[in-house]
Amino acid sequence: MLNSNARLVSIIRRLPISQQSPRLLNIGCGAFVEAPALRKLLPGWAVIGLDIVRLKKNSTWLVQADAVHLPFACKFGLILVRHPDVNKYPERWKTIFENLPVYLDGVLLVTAYTFDEIEFVRNHLDLPPISVSEPPLAPVDLVGRDKYYVSVNTK
Ligand SMILES: C[S@@+](CC[C@H](N)C(=O)[O-])C[C@H]1O[C@@H](n2cnc3c(N)ncnc32)[C@H](O)[C@@H]1O
Repeated sequence: MLNSNARLVSIIRRLPISQQSPRLLNIGCGAFVEAPALRKLLPGWAVIGLDIVRLKKNSTWLVQADAVHLPFACKFGLILVRHPDVNKYPERWKTIFENLPVYLDGVLLVTAYTFDEIEFVRNHLDLPPISVSEPPLAPVDLVGRDKYYVSVNTK
């Protein structure tokens, strides 16, 4: 069975992550199953998950909040949004993506299940895209969780 984080890790490895703001924020993190892999990939970084629903795990690194009004005064070197439910809550995610540049001091990476979802994200982001270099990325897992993605930089 493919490691479900292999594709994600292989994308992040190719992104121009800066150590200037060593903080990762995963918005709409759900159970945040990627946390161990991300901590390993980014040693010394604060790895924070945020979701509007109450998270099952009790951890200081998990925050329950509405991303429309992010409760942070700092910026993040990497913001991750995986599979935002944009078809269910289009207005909400439109506002979230439009506000995100204020909190970004580096790279935003969004992954989605479908091309249309990624198009939605692109349409609400006013930041320059990053093209990811060769060699090829790790294969997509059976669920296709990282088949479609977009990454952008701070202007
Ligand atoms: C399709 S799930 C994806 C969960 C996880 N990122 C994954 O890849 O499995 C979308 C998540 O976004 C969260 N979400 C929706 N609206 C949100 C908001 N306004 N602020 C924070 N999280 C939100 C939902 O609660 C849900 O956990």
